[in-house]
Amino acid sequence: MPPQEEKENTFTTGYNKSSLDRYTFRNVETCAAFLIPYLEFLRPDFSFLDIGCGPGSITTDLASRYPQASFTGIDPGKIFIDKAKDLARERGVEDNTNFLVGNLASIDQVLGTKVGTFDVVSCHQVLTHLVDPLANLKIMKAAARREGGIVAAREATTTIGDIFYPLLPGIEKWQKLQAEIVGAKTGGVAGFGPRLLETALHAGWARDKIKAGAGVWCYSDAAEKQMWVGSVVGMLENRDSEWYKKALEKGGTEEDMKIMAEAWREWEGRDEAWSTFMSAEIVCRNG
Ligand SMILES: C[S@@+](CC[C@H](N)C(=O)[O-])C[C@H]1O[C@@H](n2cnc3c(N)ncnc32)[C@H](O)[C@@H]1O
Repeated sequence: MPPQEEKENTFTTGYNKSSLDRYTFRNVETCAAFLIPYLEFLRPDFSFLDIGCGPGSITTDLASRYPQASFTGIDPGKIFIDKAKDLARERGVEDNTNFLVGNLASIDQVLGTKVGTFDVVSCHQVLTHLVDPLANLKIMKAAARREGGIVAAREATTTIGDIFYPLLPGIEKWQKLQAEIVGAKTGGVAGFGPRLLETALHAGWARDKIKAGAGVWCYSDAAEKQMWVGSVVGMLENRDSEWYKKALEKGGTEEDMKIMAEAWREWEGRDEAWSTFMSAEIVCRNG
C-alpha cells in the first residue's frame, strides 16, 4: 500500500518564497556534519540520494565537497527543484548532480533501476512532515545498496526541543499553534525526532546497525535571525500560505497573525534574542 501522504498534503510549511528562503539557508555544516565521517570512508565515486532535497542547498554543498561522487535529489516541489538546478549551476556542480521532481512513494517510477543501488540515501527534515514515516523509511532502506548501503535522516524534535528567548507572548502563541499544526497531521506527530531511532528499528535495522545522535541549530546573529523571522513572518502575512490556512483552522484569528508577526519582529531586533532547534540524527547500515 502506498504511504498515506500520497493522498494528503501534509507539508504545512508549503511551497512558497518563505520556505524557499528558509531551506536555501541550510548547508552541510549546519545540517549534515554528522554524516561526513561516514562519507569519508566511501569510494570517491559514491552515489548519494537526497530525498526531499528542497532547494538543494545541502545537496549542492555536498556535491562541491565530493566532486567525484554523484548526487541525486528528488522533491515533489517543482519550485524547489528549479531552485536546486539554479544552485547547482551557480556552484559549478551541474555535472555531478541531478534534480528530479518526485516523492518517496514514487521513486520506482522516478529512478527506475537505480533504486537499490545507492551508497547513501539521506533525508533532512522530511519524515517529520509525512503521515507515515515508517513506510517511507522502509522505502529509503530499499533504495540503498542491500549490502553496506547507508541510510541517514535528521529530523526535528519540534516543540520538545525548541527554545526561543525571550519567549514574548506572541511567540509563545506561535509556538503553541505550530505544535498544534504540526501535531494535527494524521500520524505526523509534532516532535517526531525522538521517535526516529524507534522507527529505524521498526524499519528492520538491528540496533547495532544504527548510530543515533542529536544536533542543534542556534539562531542568534543578525543574518540567522533575519532568515528565520523573515520566513516565519512571510507565512504569517501570506493568507495563501499553507501555514496560514492551517492556523485559521486551528482557531487562530487574523488579529493573532498580526500579534505573532509583531512579536517575531520585536524578537529579531533584540540583541539578547536567541533560539535553539534540536534534531535527532540517525545513520543506519544495510547488510
Ligand atoms: C522541511 S523541507 C526540507 C528540505 C531540505 N531537505 C532541507 O532540509 O532544506 C521538507 C521537504 O520534504 C519534501 N517532501 C514532502 N513530501 C515528500 C515526499 N512524500 N517525498 C519526498 N519529499 C517530500 C518537501 O517538498 C520539502 O522540500
